[in-house]
Amino acid sequence: MRDLTAQRADTTIAQAAEIRRIERDLHDGAQARLVGLGLALATAEKLMETDPDRARALMREARAGAATSLAELRELVGGITPPVLNERGLVDAVRAFALDGALEAEVVADGALRLDPPIEAAVYFGIAELMTNATKHAQATRARITLTHDGVGLVAEVEDDGRGGIRERDGGGLAGLRRRLAVFDGDLEVTSPVGGPTSVRMMVPCASL
Ligand SMILES: Nc1ncnc2c1ncn2[C@@H]1O[C@H](COP(=O)(O)OP(=O)(O)OP(=O)(O)O)[C@@H](O)[C@H]1O
Ligand SMILES: [Mg+2]
Repeated sequence: MRDLTAQRADTTIAQAAEIRRIERDLHDGAQARLVGLGLALATAEKLMETDPDRARALMREARAGAATSLAELRELVGGITPPVLNERGLVDAVRAFALDGALEAEVVADGALRLDPPIEAAVYFGIAELMTNATKHAQATRARITLTHDGVGLVAEVEDDGRGGIRERDGGGLAGLRRRLAVFDGDLEVTSPVGGPTSVRMMVPCASL
């Protein structure tokens, strides 16, 4: 009973954290862009008679801004729950993802592993980012994905045999992943000496359901 209560509390905390992340993504992204769009349109309206060229330019910018907002919203919605996670769970979703990739990837995982959905989503997207990095930057031939629960939390690792030398940068995928994991009190550990190999480990304290 006590365990169940603790698990329920963990789920509630994870869900609240996920809601805060979505709020922040909306606030910093689409919301900010829509405010700018409203201002640009208001200015364009005023300039319509006196400076039609400038008005037209502003409207063109506004249209581009609207397209970007739409793309951001699509991405945000996609980031909330990828359907494959609901249907198949984290481990199978990662296996399917690994099969589709350009890089040959081995998945070592406890098949019964289930976590809170928001944590599963964060880890799934994290693995996708790390595999994309390995494909894009590492010149790797192979990758290995390991998923385990060590009693304290989830440990997910992506290793590649590429050239190493990761340098995190502001606005990059790794920085974003670090922020996303921090929402769950999780952490990212990067081991990537120049010359390789690279190992990136995500750790998220959580119950195994
Ligand atoms: N597995 C890897 N092997 C070697 N270098 C890597 C690897 N992953 C990342 N890097 C290096 O670290 C940098 C930072 O990665 P990060 O994911 O933060 O940004 P990015 O992949 O360049 O951009 P984005 O993720 O926004 O598409 C990369 O530009 C690349 O130089
Ligand atoms: Mg990246």
